[in-house]
Amino acid sequence: MTTLLHIDTSARPLNQSDHQSISRTLAQRFLSLWQNTLPETHIIYRDLATSPVDLINQAWIEAAFTKEEKRTPTQMSILSASNELIDEVMQADIILLSTPMYNYGMPAVLKAWFDQVIRVNKTFSFDLNRGDFPLQASLSGKTLILITSSGEYGFELGGLREKMDHLHPHIHTLSHYLGVETMHTIRAEYQEFNDERHQASLKKANTEVITLVAQLVDITQATFA
Ligand SMILES: Cc1cc2nc3c(=O)[nH]c(=O)nc-3n(C[C@H](O)[C@H](O)[C@H](O)COP(=O)(O)O)c2cc1C
Repeated sequence: MTTLLHIDTSARPLNQSDHQSISRTLAQRFLSLWQNTLPETHIIYRDLATSPVDLINQAWIEAAFTKEEKRTPTQMSILSASNELIDEVMQADIILLSTPMYNYGMPAVLKAWFDQVIRVNKTFSFDLNRGDFPLQASLSGKTLILITSSGEYGFELGGLREKMDHLHPHIHTLSHYLGVETMHTIRAEYQEFNDERHQASLKKANTEVITLVAQLVDITQATFA
């Protein structure tokens, strides 16, 4: 059975008349199309906006860098939320991540989640014998579907705001430590312009969702047949 970890991060909700979250709406569309075809998929859901995870702090870092067998009960308890979040990533074959662009990067709640999940001796190992690249991801084989929404546009490679994009490249770099080997990105843009370009962008993103679901369902059915 396939496991899909669905994570929403927008501060805006799904059902609201004046500004409904675009990234949540597209992810929801992806999920309903997916479930229509593969209803037996195990879904794990995290809404990081309504249920944010804790920021890491000194005690967390100390606990994470203490060998498992030497951890005190307090340290074990400090890491329990991180363990749960990592376990969800480990279970997932597919990660469906929806996020807005905030200040040219990811929302703080999503960064907090990455900080809890990318952890030494859990999702990566560290060995100086590896030379200039001592970190090695421990997980592999996962597919990430990244759905983003921005107010402006042109953040893609070669776009007029390519250098201002600290959202997609950051997630791309971090996703390696979640064990992601295949990444698909769907972007809705122009939200702040609210013009025909925005409508065209939404239409394109919706079409990409439909195409991607069909493509991934085929692969999943072939893999798990
Ligand atoms: C706090 C905040 C910061 C934002 N920063 C940016 C930004 O740096 N660049 C941009 O293109 N849009 C920015 N936007 C616009 C959002 O990316 C846009 O409204 C997007 O649709 C939000 O995603 P959502 O509809 O899923 O909530 C910002 C919006 C908010 C509320």
